[in-house]
Amino acid sequence: MKIAILPGDGIGPEIMAEAVKVLQALDLRFEMETAPVGGAAYEASGHPLPEATLRLAQQADAILFGAVGDWKYDKLERHLRPEQAILGLRKHLGLFANFRPAICYEQLVGASSLKPELVAGLDILIIRELTGDIYFGQPRGRRSAPDGAFAGAEEAFDTMRYTRPEIERIARVAFEAARKRGKKVTSVDKANVLETFQFWKDVVTEVHQDYPDVTLEHMYVDNAAMQLVKAPKNFDVLVTGNMFGDILSDEASMLTGSIGMLPSASLNDKGQGLYEPSHGSAPDIAGKGIANPLATILSAAMMLRFSLAQPAAAERIEAAVKQVLAQGLRTADIWSEGTTRVGTREMGDAVIKALQGV
Ligand code: IPM
Ligand code: MG
Repeated sequence: MKIAILPGDGIGPEIMAEAVKVLQALDLRFEMETAPVGGAAYEASGHPLPEATLRLAQQADAILFGAVGDWKYDKLERHLRPEQAILGLRKHLGLFANFRPAICYEQLVGASSLKPELVAGLDILIIRELTGDIYFGQPRGRRSAPDGAFAGAEEAFDTMRYTRPEIERIARVAFEAARKRGKKVTSVDKANVLETFQFWKDVVTEVHQDYPDVTLEHMYVDNAAMQLVKAPKNFDVLVTGNMFGDILSDEASMLTGSIGMLPSASLNDKGQGLYEPSHGSAPDIAGKGIANPLATILSAAMMLRFSLAQPAAAERIEAAVKQVLAQGLRTADIWSEGTTRVGTREMGDAVIKALQGV
């Protein structure tokens, strides 16, 4: 088994170092190979996703990804910006199914901006379609407006589109996932306005015929944004397109009190996966040794479960993380009165120590 390690930018290298330490402490046999990605790769070789990095990712059974991006690259042409690395990996590897769990850990209920009773015990799963929609739809670009009230004016445009097979396969992923949990899927659309999402709703409804044991509900995206802060525990599995999923998954992650705790997985139809923390590169705290490595460590656990067929090892890591939280150890982002503030490295060390006992 081969794991591609892509640390990236900002806090990426620091949090990745801890996840790699944890993986090494497991005593399993796999090969890890590191390659630059994002701004770091642009600095080293002039491109955010160099050929060699892409090749490594394609050959690996799984990819552990840190984070990419920094304000300092905002003025680069779009195709050279760090974000293109993650978009390129998703597209080239066909990583269409993005799992973003939002789980509120018992010990962190107080860190949520919502009332404790709304989030205590929260465990929802956002499944975001990741290779279609307005993110990748062609045509896109700038031109002179061909019609409308401002015909002839400078204009920019993107294209929202979904094919039937793209919707069918992500719907199946969502229904299968729901079967293993609360047996409810909420499909989020904007069918009242958009042709693309009326089609989405129709196709999801058709696929649902094969899953009579799962409840399907449809919800407009604006209402879903509201329900997520009003009564988040009413959701089980939420499935939606690339754009809405981007927005709603950030919203959902905040309910849990710390985006620094949330892992994610992006899978293709071969079971190959890219695993990354849900948070970004946080350039403002990079290099300070204070970033929370737990989302990356938990992403490594997801990787062991979904791509490397090591569910027992995944459970050990998850149990170890719960244990360090129970011990009161907290990085700055989740620290509160009465708990012990630790840095990135100490947190990683504590997880390894806890691993010995579980
Ligand atoms: C995410 C990020 C990316 C996205 C960016 C970095 C391109 O926000 O993974 O949610 O929009 O998909
Ligand atoms: Mg996002």
